[in-house]
Amino acid sequence: MASRERTFIAIKPDGVQRGLVGKIIQRFEERGFKMVALKICAPGRAHLEKHYADLSKKPFFKDLVDYMVSGPIIAMVWEGLNAVKCGRMMLGETNPQASLPGSIRGDFSIQVGRNICHGSDSVESANHEIALWFNKNELVNWESAMYTWIY
Ligand code: TYD
Repeated sequence: MASRERTFIAIKPDGVQRGLVGKIIQRFEERGFKMVALKICAPGRAHLEKHYADLSKKPFFKDLVDYMVSGPIIAMVWEGLNAVKCGRMMLGETNPQASLPGSIRGDFSIQVGRNICHGSDSVESANHEIALWFNKNELVNWESAMYTWIY
């Protein structure tokens, strides 16, 4: 059911170090998504190489992994109607310079290699990324009375 769709959202080391964690979480809460998992972690190079395995041949791969291991990351799962597509829209474009004001990258960043946040780009990759970053028992299923009438 699309209303129960889940996406993996991460706040990258620059977002954490710049103190943007609360603002980013607030955007997802206020939009109407439901948090089902959240942790601060520093999972290390091998994990990040797995997360970005599709990009391993790209010239920026090493810099990307260096950046991602440079500090703690906030890993989250958000649930709600079309969470994957809507989450990507909330993040903005990969390159912050092409991101509209109002998006997270468009409001808080200017450089592709320091673009603050990650969001799954398809339902399939969301499922893969959620399984990579979280154990099943870290995903909390909960109901708010509101969700029965919003969705
Ligand atoms: P990608 O998966 O293409 O983008 P997105 O994060 O929007 O899904 O790329 C992963 C990250 O790699 C991206 O967030 C920033 C970094 N990156 C660069 O540093 N240089 C580049 O030219 C590109 C395309 C991405």
